Amino acid sequence: MNLIFDTHAHYDDEAFDADREALLSSMPENGVGLIVDPGCDLDTSRRAVEIAEQYPHVYAAVGWHPENCAPYTRESLDTLRAWAKNPKVVAIGEIGLDYYWEQNPPREFQQEVFRDQLALARELGLPVIVHDRDAHADCLAIVKEFPQVRGVFHCFSGSVEIAQELIKRGWYLGFDGPLTYKNAKKTVEVAKIVPLDRVLLETDSPYMAPVPVRGTRNDSRNVSHICLLYTSDAADERKRNEADRFRSSFFISNLNGAANLLAILPDFVRMFILPL
Ligand code: NI
Repeated sequence: MNLIFDTHAHYDDEAFDADREALLSSMPENGVGLIVDPGCDLDTSRRAVEIAEQYPHVYAAVGWHPENCAPYTRESLDTLRAWAKNPKVVAIGEIGLDYYWEQNPPREFQQEVFRDQLALARELGLPVIVHDRDAHADCLAIVKEFPQVRGVFHCFSGSVEIAQELIKRGWYLGFDGPLTYKNAKKTVEVAKIVPLDRVLLETDSPYMAPVPVRGTRNDSRNVSHICLLYTSDAADERKRNEADRFRSSFFISNLNGAANLLAILPDFVRMFILPL
C-alpha cells in the first residue's frame, strides 16, 4: 500500500486524550505512513517528543508558537536545543507571527521570539515550520534575514506574490483543510502557481478538518481529502496532467517522487529510509 505523509498534526493536543494510542497505532494501516507533530510551547513540545519516541511513524518539531510565546525566555532555547538533538526531532516549529488575535503577545515580542528560533534552527541545521497569520510582510522580511534557514510556511494564506518570493528562496508551502473550503479562492489561486515539488500536504489536526468532514475533529487520515482535491478537476490543467507525479511525491514508498522534498529538507531523509 502507498503511504501518505501528514507534515503537520498536533497529536499532543488534549483533543486526542481519549483515543490517541488507538488512533496513532492505526495510522499505517489507514494509509498514513509518516506524521510530524509540531509543538507550540515547552509543554506541547515535550509531549510531541514523547509521542514521537513512542511511535516509529511519528516525528516531532519543537518550538514556541506566536500565540503561545508569552512565557518565552532566552533560557528556554537551551531546553529546545537539547530536545532538538533527539533523532526523532526533525524541525524547529511551529514558530512565526500571528497578528490575528488581539490578545496575542505584542508584535515586537513575537518578532524577537521568531528571530531567536530561526537563529537556533540555523545553528542546528534544522528546517523550520512557520506559522504566518495576517503577518505576511513581516514574516517574509524576517526569514530573509536568515537566508540559510528554510522549511515550510504551513497553512499558507499569503498572496501569489509572497508565494513566488518564498519559492524562489527555496521554501515549501503547506496546504491543508482551507484549500477545500468554498471561500478559499485566494488559497486555490496560490496553490495553482506553486510548483508541485514545493507543496507539502498537512492536516493541522485536530483543527481545520477538510471538506467533506469539515467541523469534525481532524486527524491525519483526512490528508487524503486534500490530496484528492489538489489533483482533481478543481485544480488547473497542468496539475491534472501531473496528477500522478504529484501524488507520488506524497507517497513515501516512491523515493523518486520524494527526491525534491529530500533535497531541501535533508533532515527528513532518515524518515524516508525507515523500514515501514
Ligand atoms: Ni499547527
